[in-house]
Amino acid sequence: MIDFTSSVLSQGELSQLPSQLRSLGCKRWLIVSDSNLERRLDWSWNESPVLIVPAGEASKSLAQTEKLYAELSEHRVDRATWLVAVGGGVVGDLAGFVAATYLRGLPLVQVPTSLVAQVDSSLGGKVGVDLPTGKNLVGSFYPARLVYLDTDLLETLPQHEWNSGMAEVLKHALLDGEAHWQYLEQLDTPLSGPDRHQLVQRSRQVKLDVVAADPLEQGIRAHLNLGHTLAHAIESAQNYSGWNHGQAVGFGLRAALRLSQLKLGMAPHWEDRLVSQLQRYQLPWRRPDLEFSQLTDFLHRDKKNQHGQLRFVLLAAPGQAEVRPDVGLADLECVWEELS
Ligand SMILES: NC(=O)c1ccc[n+]([C@@H]2O[C@H](COP(=O)([O-])OP(=O)(O)OC[C@H]3O[C@@H](n4cnc5c(N)ncnc54)[C@H](O)[C@@H]3O)[C@@H](O)[C@H]2O)c1
Ligand SMILES: [Zn+2]
Repeated sequence: MIDFTSSVLSQGELSQLPSQLRSLGCKRWLIVSDSNLERRLDWSWNESPVLIVPAGEASKSLAQTEKLYAELSEHRVDRATWLVAVGGGVVGDLAGFVAATYLRGLPLVQVPTSLVAQVDSSLGGKVGVDLPTGKNLVGSFYPARLVYLDTDLLETLPQHEWNSGMAEVLKHALLDGEAHWQYLEQLDTPLSGPDRHQLVQRSRQVKLDVVAADPLEQGIRAHLNLGHTLAHAIESAQNYSGWNHGQAVGFGLRAALRLSQLKLGMAPHWEDRLVSQLQRYQLPWRRPDLEFSQLTDFLHRDKKNQHGQLRFVLLAAPGQAEVRPDVGLADLECVWEELS
């Protein structure tokens, strides 16, 4: 049985990471990061080898996994060597998958540096890579020994990457309820350091609570997929080189709220309020330049499908999510055409 409560959640400055690792009994570690962070982060504190993957979603691949396996072999990694992912969701998912599988498991540490990673991907133990036929199709549940949070790292995050992370923050607020949503609407931007810290804490708590209640996604954890069925199909149809994950989720949320009006009678003002937030963060609120038929194969391979039936997360209102088996491709196509 996977024990998600065994992950240590701790906070501090990145430069304190080595002493934090030692305090957990780690004597040797390797870091995985990406080509942007290699240049942008201050690594002066670091004393360990850093394995660098090219920045971007295309690195979440089996080819990159194999390259990392080879590098671990060269470094003579054994089961007492920890793997430390310092980066966004791409590095976290990829390095996490490598840690889960190399020598049948190396201790894993997540040091999330992007907003997506701090509020979402570093938490809950889902690791994996994409296939050309679909996103996140290969992976595992593999909880990190340590998730080390330093919200000051977000200072160097480019604005458009911050905006992408806001798509997951908006998703968490919709799942949490009206008070969380209003807090986001009333945010005064640009955020100060303490405000940024509060936003991250509040958003990641939504995920932590859901994962604690349902670690293996047998029930309410599926709600975290709000907006994601369509988002993943768009990312795949664009061959992971069109919209990034947050952009696809932003539009996916709008489609989910439109479907929620049709199926659950959600009040239409929620979609309008979402569109205002998407515009505020320069996230897409209209569909991309794709035909609906380009999505269908990917929709059919969505991990939530059961017996060939799509399962869509919809909301009656913020805080009231359900997984619905009654959203057909025709419903979705209708909404797709409307949101042009
Ligand atoms: N495992 C999960 O539960 C889960 C949840 C949500 C998303 N994800 C996955 O996460 C991925 C998206 O994550 P992402 O948006 O972090 O993408 P990413 O890892 O590609 O990071 C986005 C960009 O920001 C840069 N960056 C990251 N931190 C930075 C910093 N502090 N300063 C400057 N630049 C920085 C990166 O180098 C990269 O170019 C997707 O593959 C998605 O499927 C996984
Ligand atoms: Zn996501």
